[in-house]
Amino acid sequence: MPVQQAETPIRVGVLFSQSGVTAVVEQTQRNAVTMAIDEVNAAGGIDGRPIVAEYADPRSDPKKYREAAQAMVDAGIRILFGCYMSSTRKAVLPVVEQAGALLFYPTLYEGFEFSPNCFYGGASPNQNSIWLARYLMQTYGPDFYLIGSNYVFPYESNRIMRDFIETEGGRVHQERYVPLAPSDDDLARAIDEIARQPRVTVLSTVVGDGTARLYRAYREAGLDPDVTPIGSLTTGEPEVALMGGALAEGHYTAAPYFETVKTEANRAFLRRYRGRFGAHAPVSACTEAAYVQVHMMAIAARNASDNVDDLRTALGVTEFDAPQGRVRIDGDNHHTWLWPRIARADASGTFRIVSESRTALKPDPYLITPPSADWAPSATVA
Ligand code: ACM
Repeated sequence: MPVQQAETPIRVGVLFSQSGVTAVVEQTQRNAVTMAIDEVNAAGGIDGRPIVAEYADPRSDPKKYREAAQAMVDAGIRILFGCYMSSTRKAVLPVVEQAGALLFYPTLYEGFEFSPNCFYGGASPNQNSIWLARYLMQTYGPDFYLIGSNYVFPYESNRIMRDFIETEGGRVHQERYVPLAPSDDDLARAIDEIARQPRVTVLSTVVGDGTARLYRAYREAGLDPDVTPIGSLTTGEPEVALMGGALAEGHYTAAPYFETVKTEANRAFLRRYRGRFGAHAPVSACTEAAYVQVHMMAIAARNASDNVDDLRTALGVTEFDAPQGRVRIDGDNHHTWLWPRIARADASGTFRIVSESRTALKPDPYLITPPSADWAPSATVA
């Protein structure tokens, strides 16, 4: 390879919010992407070519995501890492599709989507929602209350939850949506509805800053997590760090990664991340997915090239020893084989894993396979 070409950087765009309602988790995703890029570069880059990141802060606003993505593709960038809320992914996707670029999306979401221009690194509903609903139903009974933030992911996630719960003989007593920045009254109304039920399990898809306030209102109302626990897909370690262990204790989260996963890769990952971002810096499944997606892109680029078509093909057979366990991308649907887990927060705010898959589970974003087949997965990652 000529020297000039060997030194030409590979430019990537990084779109995570440093402000706004979901900055609490997106800051960790940005950190993870930055750390992974530095690791790739320290190991020689992509055949000698360094990855160079350009950052934007779209402030948790879908319109700003679209504008920032447009500016990046207009500047010639074809590889983007970013987005937490599904509303922001949906704002960015038409831009990357039009430009023939790739978006690496490292966040759990509602499924029922495929784009040839997107790789999905977070859990699909068959890898988190179904597991959480079934575990809580078996442990706490058939009655549920659904609460979410007022945007597309909670609506769609709750549609799937409700279908599953009702098919399994359970009941959804109420479904409530609160603004992304809920007022005390919004939360008080929801908590009052929960308290009126003799025994319901709360499924929360409240995101970002509202999470801590929901758990505080719950605790102040005297509700008991041993009777009426909250189960969530979006309350990860960063949200718990914000609220503190006293509010999180006894509540559940489903995700493919928790800080407490016992793999050598996770111990090394946490050591590096905390060495760089602080001894107590929280890391969630969204953080880990952001880190993993950079490394998978780099592996695919080394095996093929950084051209979008070559990358897309190579990614479809890419595997990686992630902190959560070995993962790989499903070439058919661009989602990722992940390790479903459920954990319960203790008084220190640490997630203790109470149930986990023995294998990485194939992503099924359109829920084609009946959920009962998912519950005892037999498929393995080679
Ligand atoms: C989300 O909006 N996908 C968390």
